[in-house]
Amino acid sequence: MITSHPPATSASPRPVRKAVVPAAGLGTRFLPATKATPKEMLPVVDKPAIQYVVEEAAAAGLDDVLMVTGRHKRAIEDHFDHALELEQALAAKGDTVRLDAVRDPARLADIHHIRQGDPLGLGHAVLCARAHVGDQPFAVLLGDDLIDPRESLLSRMLDVRERYAGSVVALMEVDPAQIHLYGCAAVEAAGEDGVVRVTDLVEKPSREEAPSRYAVIGRYVLDPAVFGVLERTRPGRGGEIQLTDALRELAAAGTVHAVVFDGARYDTGDKSDYLRSVVRMACARPDLGPGFRSWLREFVAALEDGPEAGAARADGRERRRAA
Ligand code: UTP
Repeated sequence: MITSHPPATSASPRPVRKAVVPAAGLGTRFLPATKATPKEMLPVVDKPAIQYVVEEAAAAGLDDVLMVTGRHKRAIEDHFDHALELEQALAAKGDTVRLDAVRDPARLADIHHIRQGDPLGLGHAVLCARAHVGDQPFAVLLGDDLIDPRESLLSRMLDVRERYAGSVVALMEVDPAQIHLYGCAAVEAAGEDGVVRVTDLVEKPSREEAPSRYAVIGRYVLDPAVFGVLERTRPGRGGEIQLTDALRELAAAGTVHAVVFDGARYDTGDKSDYLRSVVRMACARPDLGPGFRSWLREFVAALEDGPEAGAARADGRERRRAA
């Protein structure tokens, strides 16, 4: 087995400052909710999913965020802008807590927007960012992929980029029955715990075709070399220009590493995962968590009598407590 080590003498790669957040997909898995509302704007407790994503970028030190949006995505642009009337009304009432909540999204980073005319695929969405990103490494965070804020995945990926150069993806081990939903990576050891070298990538393989159980999740730190490859990447699986196909070429050249992640991650564009993300985030909230957790315990305990009975019993106890 070949192991790769950080290059000893090459010029140190430039630090990453820019993040690209693709959010121009159609969100068909979440219809009809996503008919007029972008899936990235669906609330996870009281913030849209995409705000967690931008907060994650800012927490990792990325102060320039480019959103790639499409038609019907005005709500995303408005959310990360000022809302003067609302701010004035809250200021007049002296409601500083809500005023801060309204102002926070616009203060997270220097936020830019670009339109992807047609949703031709994730690879195409990333290519739309080329003029803004320029000749620098950059991060890509999918706007509907939520990583628990207590995790430090992106920082670890930035650290790997600094030490190995090239591009860095994030991998999670999944049940082989689920691998057809993801890009899948063939890997070999890189000589350190939790980091591997990617030797091949396949977009949404069947269980039989999959080279491993490692699924690519929605965080990337990319070398600008990816743009040149994307320019000539033809539509692949699903007729879309796939980022995985471009990364496959870079992986063949030995320049893609991966951080293996085993923390909490949710695809909020998938209904079941979305529900899990809401429950998880609500339980972790200091203001809502204690009450929500005790309701949830009662609800789950009563589920054996059927979901309706479970809800009725848990809600009845809650009302009695409140009375
Ligand atoms: P998905 O494959 O999850 O998005 O893309 P989708 O096509 O909207 O999903 P469904 O299957 O129809 O429900 C992952 C991310 O890439 C963005 C999406 O907005 C999402 O954040 N994306 C995808 C683009 O920005 N442009 C595209 O052309 C495709």
